[in-house]
Amino acid sequence: MELDERFPDSLDTPERRLDPFPWYETMRENEPVRYDEDRHCWDVFRYDDVKRVLTDHERFSSAGASDFDPMGMLATTLVDVDPPEHDQLRGIVDEYFEPGNLRKLRPSIRSIVDEQLDRALADGPDVEVLSEVTAPVTVLTISRLLGLSPDQRDVFRKFSSSMNTDEADLAKIFGLMREYFEGLIQDRRQNPQEDLLSVIADQEVSLSEEKRTSFCIMLFLAGHETTTHAVGNALWTLEEEGLYEALRDGEIDREQTFDESLRYRPPFYSVSGRRTTEEVELNGTVIPAGERVTSWVTSANRDPRKFDDPEQFNPDRRPNPHLAFGSGPHYCLGAPLAKLEGDIIFKAVTDRVETIELGTDKLVPNPGTTRFGLKRLPMRFNAR
Ligand code: HEM
Repeated sequence: MELDERFPDSLDTPERRLDPFPWYETMRENEPVRYDEDRHCWDVFRYDDVKRVLTDHERFSSAGASDFDPMGMLATTLVDVDPPEHDQLRGIVDEYFEPGNLRKLRPSIRSIVDEQLDRALADGPDVEVLSEVTAPVTVLTISRLLGLSPDQRDVFRKFSSSMNTDEADLAKIFGLMREYFEGLIQDRRQNPQEDLLSVIADQEVSLSEEKRTSFCIMLFLAGHETTTHAVGNALWTLEEEGLYEALRDGEIDREQTFDESLRYRPPFYSVSGRRTTEEVELNGTVIPAGERVTSWVTSANRDPRKFDDPEQFNPDRRPNPHLAFGSGPHYCLGAPLAKLEGDIIFKAVTDRVETIELGTDKLVPNPGTTRFGLKRLPMRFNAR
């Protein structure tokens, strides 16, 4: 994503950003593959077309076109490389994200969630869910997996919260982040430990120092913001649909509910970062070579050609082949971690909170053009 990337005009108000679904429906029906003159890119809205763009890496390449590097400063790795190089890079970290390995983290993630809930509930039932619960949990969890020391938590919080502001001086923050992670890589080269940082620090032959630093920063950033909003969107939807009590009482399954929420309100509007390598025909429309393509996953997840009754939130939906985690070679590396975190937060909240109520403040969408969610999620958590 380039920093000056804008929303299409049709989503240029807070109301439409909170409810882009009527616009998606119009686009799926009338202009499923279209060129936007203002943003200089192609937009794709139907499920099958989005899936094709994300999986056909030979024609829709990720090379040099990363969503994770808005200023071209991080020199990202993995997300902006095509197979076969991509698969080698992914192999370096893959096993850390396998469900079997992650399951061992369950008790420590649960204690992080409990600690955040203790703090959030100490001053009464009014909680800003994103900043008081989901963001600290996801930041501390990815930090733990990387091997960052918990006593540095203020540093990671600063990095992550600055990324969320409109005015953030991103260049300065990226500079500080680079410095911080470069120091850690140096340290791990001299004192390797049993953590992800050490695995990456050890890749001296295959990755330059700059790339190793970028790899860590990319995992840190990718590893929390999306999950913060994914869980926030899930709680927002459960409250709105009156389904919190059903979740609390085990009448609906935690895993399936989170999955359906990822279909219904994923934390991304779209995945961009693709460029055509040759002229390609997509659903009857010819896209020339060298063009940027944006895949509207949030629209694909509501395509009636793929999902029955797609506008309905249905936690019993099965199968649920949503595209919230993407598809193809770049399918989200952290999907098992995000699902685990969602499950543990659901479990901890329903263990401790009898009912939830959405605050009365007007809902404001998250700033920025990529994350679909709320800027703040004020809720009343009535303790059990
Ligand atoms: C619910 C939360 C999450 C959602 C919805 C999500 C979504 C996505 C999507 C759509 C992609 C594909 C991007 C593309 O095709 O260009 C992706 C890639 C990626 N995600 Fe996630 N993500 C989530 C959580 C996480 C977490 C917790 C991590 C942990 C580090 C993570 C790490 C990554 C990485 C490293 C990639 C790039 C994979 C590659 O290029 O091979 N994500 N994610």
